[in-house]
Formats: sequence, C-alpha cells, structure tokens
Amino acid sequence: ALVSMRQLLDHAAENGYGIPAFNVNNLEQVQAIMEAADETDSPVIMQASAGARKYAGEGFLKALIAAAVESYPHIPVVMHQDHGQSPDVCKGAIAMGFSSVMMDGSLLADGKTIADYDYNVDVTTQVVKMAHVQGISVEGELGCLGSLETMKGDKEDGHGAEGTMTREQLLTDPEQAADFAKRTQIDALAIAIGTSHGAYKFSRKPSGDILAIDRIKEIHRRLPTTHLVMHGSSSVPQDLLAIIREFGGDMKETYGVPVEEIQEAIKHGVRKINIDTDIRLAMTAAIRQFLAENPSKFDPREYLKPARAAAKKICVERYNQFGTAGNA
Ligand code: G3H
Ligand code: 13P
Ligand code: ZN
Repeated sequence: ALVSMRQLLDHAAENGYGIPAFNVNNLEQVQAIMEAADETDSPVIMQASAGARKYAGEGFLKALIAAAVESYPHIPVVMHQDHGQSPDVCKGAIAMGFSSVMMDGSLLADGKTIADYDYNVDVTTQVVKMAHVQGISVEGELGCLGSLETMKGDKEDGHGAEGTMTREQLLTDPEQAADFAKRTQIDALAIAIGTSHGAYKFSRKPSGDILAIDRIKEIHRRLPTTHLVMHGSSSVPQDLLAIIREFGGDMKETYGVPVEEIQEAIKHGVRKINIDTDIRLAMTAAIRQFLAENPSKFDPREYLKPARAAAKKICVERYNQFGTAGNA
C-alpha cells in the first residue's frame, strides 16, 4: 500500500534502522526495487527527480508505481518527489499521487544559486502547509551538498551550487537546523555532511572519516524528532567500475561513501539514505558485459534482464546493510 514517508521513518527511528531511497526512471528499476523489498521483507521508498518525470513522462511513472503497489500489496511503498525545486513542482507531484515531496529550498529554482535562509524557510513552509492537510510528508534541505575533499558543490550533477565553498557552507549548521525544523514543521531534513551527488565523490580511497559524523550527532541532538536524510549516498562499488572498464567503459578513478560510514550515520539519526548512482553503475556494468559477451544478441529483454538482476542485488545488499530488512 502507498504510505506517507513520516510513517515509515517514524518506525525506522523507533527501531534504529535506515531506509534506502532509490531513484527510479523506468520499469526495470521499479521491478528491481520491489523484488528486492519482497525478498528481504523491507519497506520501500522510491523517488523520482524532475529529470525522471521528464524522461518517463508523468503518466507512465504514475502507472509504474501504481503497478508496483498493486503487485506487492503487503509492502508499504512511499512515492517521493526528489529535489522539488519550487512549491509548484511539489504541488504537481502531490496532484500526481505522490505520498511525499522534497522541497529543496537550499538552492533557488534554477538549481544552482545558493538561496538565502529566509527564502528556504518561506518556500518550505508553503509546501508543508499544502502537503500536511493532505497527509503528505515533506523533506526539506539545509546547507549545500559538496565534497569536503574538493570543497566544491556538486553542480556537475545538476543538483548543487556553483564554485568553491567554505567548510561552513558545506556543513549544515545545527542551530539553524533546529530553527528551520521548528519554523517549517518539516518531517525530514536533508543535511550537508560531506556527501555529494554522482559517481565522482572522492578521488582517494576513503579512510574512515569521509562523513562529518560529529555534525550528524549534533544536528540529531537538537532535532530529535526530525528525521535526517543523507543525499549522495552511493558507495560506488569498485567491482562495478572494474566491469564497466573491462567491457569498454571509460570511468576515472573514483570512490563513494563506504557502507560502514552510512551504518555509523544511521546510529546517529540518519533514516533516509538516497541512492541513484549505484543502480546506474550496476545496470550499465551488466549491460556492457552482456553485449560484449553476446555480440549477436539484439532483444532488449535479454540485456535488460541481467541489468534488472544487478540493480536488485544492490537493493538487497542495502536493505540488509541498513537494517531495513524484516521491517515491511
Ligand atoms: O539527486 C539526484 C538524483 O541522482 C537524480 O538525478 O536529476 O539525473 O534524475 P537526475
Ligand atoms: P547518489 O548520486 O550518490 O546516488 O545520490 C542520489 C541522491 O542523492 C538523489 O537525491
Ligand atoms: Zn539528492
């Protein structure tokens, strides 16, 4: 059944686990997530970016989710708007039947100019007022995502601020976060604590201190009832990069967020963990390998099947690693 995000995250908080939120754009990704959730008895958060809605078309996306809910009636599913850039985008998602929306007011509607605090409070409050009367949950964002290694916002991915930033800009301020949660009444808050979107997060192998764990602890201490969200949480598995390179792909050396660090973050209040890149890598690796090893094949079902299986494997792993399994 379709449920609100608040419901799932409250249960996760009471029981000390995290829930991966996977981005979806097409049929095979939706199926992979549902099969993984079914196998591990996990609740589901599927999210669609503006790009996903544009790629698939609203009607198709809506029907895919409806089919997922109908095919797995025993699994609670949240359909979430990822990175809504304006109250209008959130309104559109709610009208489409989403049960949760993100109003990302950390940036202006262009998606790259850092917004001032009052703007963020204003647009987020507008969305909460509109959403809560309909039982829809709201995620806000405070701070600008970017790597503490490069001190750059992650604008290459189209979701971040431009240019070099200061450490303070790249970390959510705990005091401001408390004020923000109180004034907006959001259900969940995306925080900047060292992660960034996309495959190119870190150029060196992380050694246990990639995330600003102390900052997470401090934010959690001041906002005990607002669920914390970590964007840019793909782990960028090295074995997938190796397959992509072996079968003709061109990807530079890169590292993601180690699963152990995410597990540590979950201990300190992180409940929703956004993952898109790992599924992209898994599907691309499988398709590259299949086509290279079977050059005469041309039926899309034949290469989409291993791609779907590879995506499912990532989902099963994260449901187990984050403690989501067994909580559907
Ligand atoms: O937050 C970003 C997600 O990875 C979605 O990416 O805008 O390319 O669909 P996208
Ligand atoms: P990744 O690029 O690390 O998968 O992050 C996805 C995300 O945060 C979507 O909002
Ligand atoms: Zn994101």
